[in-house]
Amino acid sequence: MKRRRASRNPDGETEYHADEGFAGALDAQDPLAAYRERFHLPRRPDGPPAIYFAGMSLGLQPRAVRTAVEQELEDWARLAVDAHFEGRNPWYSYHEQFRAPGARLVGALPHEVVFMNGLTVNLHLMLVSFYRPTPQRYRVLMEDCEFPSDTYAARTQVRWHGFDPDDAILVVRPRQGEHTLRIEDIEALLDREGERIALVLLSGVNYVTGQVLDMPRIAAAARRRGCVVGFDLAHAAGNVPLRLHEWDVDFGVWCTYKYLNAGPGCVAGCFVHERHARDVSLLRFGGWWGNDPATRFRMHLQPEFVAVPSADGWQLSNPPILSMAALRASLGMFDEVGMERLRAKSVLLTGYLRYLLEEGGMHSQGAPPLPGAGDRPRDFEIITPRQPSARGCQVSILVHRDPQGLQKALKAAGVVCDFRPPHVLRVAPVPLYNTFHEVWRFARVLQAQA
Ligand SMILES: Cc1ncc(COP(=O)(O)O)c(C=O)c1O
Repeated sequence: MKRRRASRNPDGETEYHADEGFAGALDAQDPLAAYRERFHLPRRPDGPPAIYFAGMSLGLQPRAVRTAVEQELEDWARLAVDAHFEGRNPWYSYHEQFRAPGARLVGALPHEVVFMNGLTVNLHLMLVSFYRPTPQRYRVLMEDCEFPSDTYAARTQVRWHGFDPDDAILVVRPRQGEHTLRIEDIEALLDREGERIALVLLSGVNYVTGQVLDMPRIAAAARRRGCVVGFDLAHAAGNVPLRLHEWDVDFGVWCTYKYLNAGPGCVAGCFVHERHARDVSLLRFGGWWGNDPATRFRMHLQPEFVAVPSADGWQLSNPPILSMAALRASLGMFDEVGMERLRAKSVLLTGYLRYLLEEGGMHSQGAPPLPGAGDRPRDFEIITPRQPSARGCQVSILVHRDPQGLQKALKAAGVVCDFRPPHVLRVAPVPLYNTFHEVWRFARVLQAQA
C-alpha cells in the first residue's frame, strides 16, 4: 500500500484526505499509537471497543492503575501504620513525588504545584487567599458560560465578603451571533473596569465550546490593571501545553479525572505562583499538612500555624493514598510521552476530524458559506474555534435538528460522547488512546445523519 502523510498546502495548513485508507496511513505513522494498548477500552454490547470520545468528562483507566493501587493495598495489609515510613512509597511523603511531574505538566516550578482535595475545594482555598476585596475593588471577572461549580464558588465567596454577587460578578460573553470569546473583548472590559476588578477567574479551556483562551495575554492584561488572575484548568491540564509560571498566573486549579485519566473524583491539582507560594504571611485556612513538617507534630507546644513556604502550604489533610496511587500511574505516562508530543498528535487528530466534517458539508463558525448553500440553516455547526492554538482535544458541534435522534444513532454505532443541553455535542479524540480511524468512523456516522 502506498503510504501517505498529512502534508502542508501552500498556506501552511495541513492537507488531509477523506478516504478510509488515509486514516489507516495516519494510524500507521502515529508515534503514540502503542499507548492505546495501555488503557482499558470500554466495549460495545456486541463486543468490539466503543469509540470513546468522552475523555473531556472522564478519561479511560490506564492498565497500570490497578497495580499501583494494589501495591498500596498490600502495604496497608502488610505494614498498617508503619507504611507511612516503611512502605515502598512511604505515605508520609507520598505527595512529594508529584511535584516534579506536576510541574512539567503545567509549566511550573516544583514548589508551585500540589495535588490535594477536589477542584472546587481547591478553588475555594485559592479564593480565600486571592480574592481579597475592598469597597473600591471587589469585582470578579468571569465568563458567561462558566462551569456551574466555579460560578457557585465565586458567588458564595463574594457573598461571604458581604458583597452582592449580581453586582460583583462581571461576565464577559461572546458577541451577538458568535459562540466563543474574543480576547479583545476581555481586554476592553479590563481596560474599562480594571480598577474595580479584584480577580479575573476564567477557564483556560471552556467546557462547552472547547475554546482555549489566550492565557498569557489575559494574565498580562489583568496584571496591567492590578488584578489577580486565576485559571480553572479542568479542561486544559493534560490537554494543551501550559506555562503557568512564565505567564505569571497567580493561581490555577484542575481536576485529574478528565484528560489526566486518574479516575473518578481523583485528587485535584493546584498551582500557586512562587511569589505567593513562598509568602508564608499570606492569609489562608490552615491544616496540619500545610504546616511546616518540622513542627507538625508539636502542636501542643506550638499551636500557631506555620505554613510550608511552597504550594504545599495550602494542604489541609493528610493525602488520600489510594487515589494518589492512581494519579501516580497516570502522571507517569504523561511524563513519559511529554506534552509536546501529545499536543502534536492532538492537533493532527482534531484537525482531521474538522476536515472530515467540513468535507462532509458541515459548517464551521468563521468559515465561508458552502457553495450553493444560500441561507439554508445547517443541521450541524462546529463552534470550537478553527485555529489550532484556540482548540484542544475537544470539538463541539451545535446540533440544530433532532439532537435526540443523533444521540441514538451515535449510541447504536458504539460512539461514547456527550450532549450538553439543549443541543451541544461534545467529542474529544484523545491522543493517548484514540485513533485516526475512529475519527473517520465517527465522521461517517455524523454525515449519515446530516
Ligand atoms: C470546568 C470545571 N470546573 C469545575 C469542575 C468541578 O470539579 P470538581 O467536582 O472536581 O470540584 C468541573 C467538573 O467537571 C469542570 O469541568
